[in-house]
Amino acid sequence: MVIVVGVSGGIAAYKAVHLVRLFVLDGHEVHVVPTDDALRFVGLPTWEAISRNRVTTSVHDDVPQVRHVALGQKADLVVVAPATANTLAKMAAGIADDLLGTTLLATRAPVLVAPAMHTEMWQHDATLANMATLRSRGVHVVGPESGPLTGGDSGPGRMSEPEAIHAAASTLLAGRHDLEGLVVAVSAGGTREPVDPVRFLGNRSSGRQGIALAVAAAERGAEVRLAACNIEADVLRPAERPGITVTRAGSAADLSTVMAGIAPGADVVIMAAAVADYRVADIADSKLTKEAGRTPVITLVENEDIVAGLAARREPGQVVVAFAAETSTGDELVARAVRKRRRKDVDVVAVNEVGWSKGFESADNHVLVVGRDDAVVAEASGSKRVVADALLDVLRGLTPPR
Ligand code: CTP
Repeated sequence: MVIVVGVSGGIAAYKAVHLVRLFVLDGHEVHVVPTDDALRFVGLPTWEAISRNRVTTSVHDDVPQVRHVALGQKADLVVVAPATANTLAKMAAGIADDLLGTTLLATRAPVLVAPAMHTEMWQHDATLANMATLRSRGVHVVGPESGPLTGGDSGPGRMSEPEAIHAAASTLLAGRHDLEGLVVAVSAGGTREPVDPVRFLGNRSSGRQGIALAVAAAERGAEVRLAACNIEADVLRPAERPGITVTRAGSAADLSTVMAGIAPGADVVIMAAAVADYRVADIADSKLTKEAGRTPVITLVENEDIVAGLAARREPGQVVVAFAAETSTGDELVARAVRKRRRKDVDVVAVNEVGWSKGFESADNHVLVVGRDDAVVAEASGSKRVVADALLDVLRGLTPPR
């Protein structure tokens, strides 16, 4: 396959060297198109050596070969990594004042961008509008991740790791539409149980794994119905795309209602949301205040087990999946997953180890998949997208042929 890797001018350009190397190792023909700014971070000889192809930045090089459109025309995939705020803006506006711009306009191949910039720039209304435009045109997006940025600050804006970009690119290249015709209902995020008008009991689930599942399923051709529980706008954004219908839910009771609406008719139901096991018995109508002169006592009552209810009502052939976040390790981790699968009578449990610094807000995950025969049928480590694809591979094998 022919892959064009556009590199724009950000410090993450150094990571794109590894990405190019991964594509070359796969046997692809790789053409790197850096912007002039990108060459201030990583020089031309590096790109030529690593891609094993000639590299230019200007539309005035190789004119007899009509290089300014030829690369885009022959590409099977165009990846822009890093994609800076400036390059994304130019893409959204269709500006073609360099070789990368003309290549992007000339191509009919899928385009994958890996944004990288400071949090303020990523969250600027201009960038948000440009990303919405690009997504609506079918541009695929991987990342950005949250984490330490070059200035010592931290937040969303860090380019996804080369392995994650490579995985997303490989799915696109394979044209994996293996979930075409399937309906997938998935919950993501964490419920919030109100205490009073300003407070709630919540949990640390960011929703990233559930969103990765929704996006991966949609990209693989499924019709996705997503129940989104209290997910930050940045995390939810990749799911705002064709093929995914988003319904928001707040508390466990809300989520139960939403799931009862989206599960019927679905081939696969995945409860990736972290649901509160208990809710507050008497939600205060007004804010609890110290003026009352006594420490409040909050009485909890148990919530219904949503996934167990969905499993009990499952339609013939429907596959119901629970997630389990456990603080145990090794054999005990699997044993707990097995007990949970039996107790809830679900078809599959995807279990991951969590802890104070593991699992929740991180970009990566490690998941074991326990099936109906209580055996571990799959194991996946890496970005939440890699884990999502591995779980979907298992689920596709469980859905009856259509
Ligand atoms: N779940 C649910 N409804 C609940 C609690 C959990 O549907 N009231 C679902 C979650 O979405 C997840 C799975 O059950 O898919 C496992 O959640 P977890 O909190 O790990 O399980 P619990 O049943 O709470 O078990 P325990 O407290 O013993 O760990």
